[in-house]
Amino acid sequence: MTAGCCLAAEPTFTVDATGPLAKVSPMFYGLMTEEINHSYDGGLYAELVRNRAFLDDKTAAEAWSVVNENGGEASMALDPTNGPNDQLTASLRLNVTRAGKDQPAGVANSGYWGIPVLPHTRYHASLLARAEPGFTGPLIVSIVSEDGQTVYASGKVSGLTAQWGKFDLSLKTGRLTATTKARFQITLEQPGTVWLGFVSLFPPTWNGRPNGLRKDLMQMLVDMNPKFLRFPGGNYVEGDTIDTRFDWKKTIGPIEQRHGHLCPWGYRSTDGLGLLEFLEWCEDMKAEPVLAVYAGYSLKGAHVNPGPDLAPLVQEALEEIQYVSGAADTTWGARRAADGHPAPFKLQYVEVGNEDWFDRSGSYDARFAQFYDAIKAHYPQLKVISTIGNDQPETARVHSRKPDMTDEHYYNATDEFLRMAPEYARNYDRGGPEIFVGEWAAHEDAKIKPWEPAARQQPPTPSLKAALGDAVFMAAMERNADLIKMQCYAPLLVNVNPGARQWRPDLIGYDAISTYGSPSYYAIQMFSRNFGDQVLPVRAAETSVQGAATRDSRTGEIFIKLVNPNPASEPLRLSLKGIAKLSAKASTITLAGDPEDSNLILEPGKVVPVNSTLSQVKPDFIYTLPPNSVVVLKLKGRP
Ligand code: AHR
Repeated sequence: MTAGCCLAAEPTFTVDATGPLAKVSPMFYGLMTEEINHSYDGGLYAELVRNRAFLDDKTAAEAWSVVNENGGEASMALDPTNGPNDQLTASLRLNVTRAGKDQPAGVANSGYWGIPVLPHTRYHASLLARAEPGFTGPLIVSIVSEDGQTVYASGKVSGLTAQWGKFDLSLKTGRLTATTKARFQITLEQPGTVWLGFVSLFPPTWNGRPNGLRKDLMQMLVDMNPKFLRFPGGNYVEGDTIDTRFDWKKTIGPIEQRHGHLCPWGYRSTDGLGLLEFLEWCEDMKAEPVLAVYAGYSLKGAHVNPGPDLAPLVQEALEEIQYVSGAADTTWGARRAADGHPAPFKLQYVEVGNEDWFDRSGSYDARFAQFYDAIKAHYPQLKVISTIGNDQPETARVHSRKPDMTDEHYYNATDEFLRMAPEYARNYDRGGPEIFVGEWAAHEDAKIKPWEPAARQQPPTPSLKAALGDAVFMAAMERNADLIKMQCYAPLLVNVNPGARQWRPDLIGYDAISTYGSPSYYAIQMFSRNFGDQVLPVRAAETSVQGAATRDSRTGEIFIKLVNPNPASEPLRLSLKGIAKLSAKASTITLAGDPEDSNLILEPGKVVPVNSTLSQVKPDFIYTLPPNSVVVLKLKGRP
């Protein structure tokens, strides 16, 4: 493609590099995560067995069924009381009355909407099991087709006793066509009675971590170049009630000792992805944790009074910070070391609660102050984030202390973002707290809010129209990157199977075996991978194109982000001021198409960025933006 030459077109986008230029935070692009839409269980957390500890439902062994093949006879019964330990309090009793080598009888698990079976792959299975006196096994542990006719991988467990024992085995598949139409089963070849207390199956994980994360999803996250991970929520940190908050101490240690808890999005979390796994997830992405601590308010309205009542929760947060960042000779740093990670994690940011403007008791200011004072007393280097920012009325915000940073959330329709973005943050007090936009996302239809049931009737991930809204808002945040230090889209993940989700739109969709990015995913990737360390002032005139520009001070490379929300192409005069030397060659990345276009699990590549080159670039030239487009122009200047 050739850049047009200097037409006297009126729509103009001016980029001014004359300086002085504001520095931008290297932490600007990150990710936000919580257990929602089966983000972890049935998502990123690679466990394949659903209801692995038989705790999901007190009345039925959800996801488990009886296997009776070729005349084999088995029955199963949930025992909600006789579990293997004081955390895993339930078990499944399997009674086999007739079985043989060709008559497998036992139980099967259907997984999270299927079990992904891949060729030439080693799976790790583990069980807590015991048997009636005198029965020692074997148990046949296998991955089979849904109809039980094809065995993909199989192994044996022997040596059962009347006491609970742990059994590990490796299952290896051979040549096969990848499928999710499979089940994981445990069968007997002879009559006997067995109790199962915990049944787990993992495929290979990212970095080979035991109890680790799904490789394909991790690759998609790493590809976004995130610099931080905000966790564990969102609503997930708060819980519906104080008892069901993210109680971090219950999420560490051996997974066979984690009871799990009801998450506020209506299903049980195994807590298999617990505090240490979040931290290792950060480490694996080369990102820093932005740790949200429970702050004494839960979603159904309970709050803990500031003062002595709140003190134990403040202590819990201090200990959590020590678990994350303390040396291995501190009490909780030692516990982290014992859990397998002696080195402390880098931690700079702690957020106190989540969306505390919902707390109608008005206690947040005093709760925040109590956390703030304690955190600063022990960890003066930490930046403490208030959950009530400029998107909320002045009166709702914290006044008794000056938070280091405040968190703003924006779930807006694309048209709303298009209207608000040009002025967004322009008049914010530059002497006030720094800003973290900890949750934001565009949806297409202003009448359908992301949390409403109607949103669940729409496709799980958004169309290009939403990506245009996301991109204008990202450009607005980049323009204000002197004040906005971090920002992240939410929610990040969605299992696209029916019934799996509670919120829409979401950035990345998946089922048991495949993943895909929404157009918004690609828009964020385009922005986050092309970001300098200085923000350049820009001005748009006579155009509805919105944009931003940053420069890499070491290389002189200039990144111009432009969004054309119109159904017609836009010839735009690009005027570059104060750029010492400009190469005539540049490159572009373009995301464009019909605004209704979307990616889907079976059609993942409909809206994806296209790379191209530009020649005859000058300090003043015409660049024509395609209709409905997000464009990143990468120009080579001199530092
Ligand atoms: O991102 C989904 C939810 O939106 C978060 O849990 C909550 O913080 C917000 O209301």
